Amino acid sequence: MKKVGILTSGGDAPGMNAAIRAAVRTGCANGLEMYGVHYGYQGLIDNEIYSMGARSVGGIIQQGGTMLGSARSAEFKTEAGRQKALDNLASHGIDGLIVIGGNGSQTGSHALHQVGFPVVGIASTIDNDLYGSDITIGVDTALNIALEAIDRLKVTASSHQRAFLVEVMGRDSGYLALMSGIAGGAETVVIPEVETDPNAVAQELIDAYNRGKTHGLVVVAEGAKHDAEKLAAFLKEQPNGVGFDVRVTTLGHVQRGGAPGAFDRLLATQFGEKAARCMISGEHGVLVGMLNGKISTTPLDVVTSNKKQLDLGIFEMSRVLAT
Ligand code: F6P
Repeated sequence: MKKVGILTSGGDAPGMNAAIRAAVRTGCANGLEMYGVHYGYQGLIDNEIYSMGARSVGGIIQQGGTMLGSARSAEFKTEAGRQKALDNLASHGIDGLIVIGGNGSQTGSHALHQVGFPVVGIASTIDNDLYGSDITIGVDTALNIALEAIDRLKVTASSHQRAFLVEVMGRDSGYLALMSGIAGGAETVVIPEVETDPNAVAQELIDAYNRGKTHGLVVVAEGAKHDAEKLAAFLKEQPNGVGFDVRVTTLGHVQRGGAPGAFDRLLATQFGEKAARCMISGEHGVLVGMLNGKISTTPLDVVTSNKKQLDLGIFEMSRVLAT
């Protein structure tokens, strides 16, 4: 193994740059020639592949986003698209690829692994819904951004006796909503993993109001069946209201664009270093992640055939703590 490509794919996540930096520098220090692929798998197809050295990754560890750019490529999902990507890798003499991303990205790396191309994945998504890593790059920073917004909304909510429905990211996963809801002291959390009756949300807010709370806070995951706008419309339709005046704030991509905190920089650095070492030692077809507090590898076959489950015990705890 001499030449190794690296790409970031899917939604960007704070800490991706730290992972790129660690992988490139570890690779270069151990005799690999490193290549950056711009704009994820689409960049592989479009031959956006450039040589990188230790200096190419200077000054990026503190930056959010990804210096390589990212994309969601429909073409790479086709066999013809993947063949173009493989041909371009071959034209540069690249014989290994590090893929930094979440579920969609690791499905892509698995497809390359299945045709015998050496790949190593790095677990990165703010959604924390990737099997094979207890925590993924970007989660901690995104959570802190959501939390800061929630804290501020609570202040203004209290001044005006309002209930805020705060929508956080998480297309298929309630992790960010649940954790930011607990850490932000929410009255209720609405997540895709648990069926929520809008009547119950209304009742919880009414009860909170009657208990003398000055604000109501409902954290809603983007992927929940009743999103924040739908829930707000339902609450506003209640004949006697819910006590509080109801408002909606959608945090959206604000959560993804932050500068990585210390935790994400360190996690990503360790993941990047490990991925380069896997390339060197010939441990391919694996995802680098963290399991039980240790940097670990999990076969991509296992990663892509399992769905990470949210700990519903924590959801139950959040209900008790909201009383
Ligand atoms: O990366 C994960 C994620 O942020 C999800 O939480 C969200 O649903 C999705 O990406 C948004 O993707 P895009 O930026 O392509 O709209």
